[in-house]
Amino acid sequence: MLPELHESVQSEGLAAAVEEHLEQTREHGPRLEKVFRALGAEPSSNLDPPAEKLVEHHSELAGSFTNDRLEDVFHASAAATTEHHELSAYDALLALAQAVELPHDARGLLERNRAEEAEALRRLQQERDRLVGELGT
Ligand SMILES: [Fe+2]
Repeated sequence: MLPELHESVQSEGLAAAVEEHLEQTREHGPRLEKVFRALGAEPSSNLDPPAEKLVEHHSELAGSFTNDRLEDVFHASAAATTEHHELSAYDALLALAQAVELPHDARGLLERNRAEEAEALRRLQQERDRLVGELGT
C-alpha cells in the first residue's frame, strides 16, 4: 500500500512519513528472510488475507474524496490500520520466537522491524490528527 500512498498524498508531512517508512520496509523483508532461515523455514512474500483486504479497500475508496485534506486523512488512517495489523503480526512472531528459543540475533531483527512499525504508526497517527485539525481551517 505504501508505494501507492506515496503517489497519492498531498500533504508534505504525510508524504515524508510514508516515504520514511517505505525506506524502512525495504529492510524488513531481508531481515525476515534471515529469521526464517534461522528457523530452517522457507520465507514467502505472499500478502496475508487481511493485508490484501486492507489494500483492496483502500484502492476502492482512494480518489473518491472531493477534499484533498480529507483524502489525506483517509490515506493516513488506512496506513495506520496497516501498521496496527503488522504490529499484531510482529507481536505473535516475537511470542513464537521466545517459545522456540530463536537465537538472540534473529530475535533482534524481529524487534527492530517491530520498533520501526511502531514508530511509523506513531508518525502516521500524528499526521492524521494534524490533518483532521486542519479540516476546519
Ligand atoms: Fe509497516
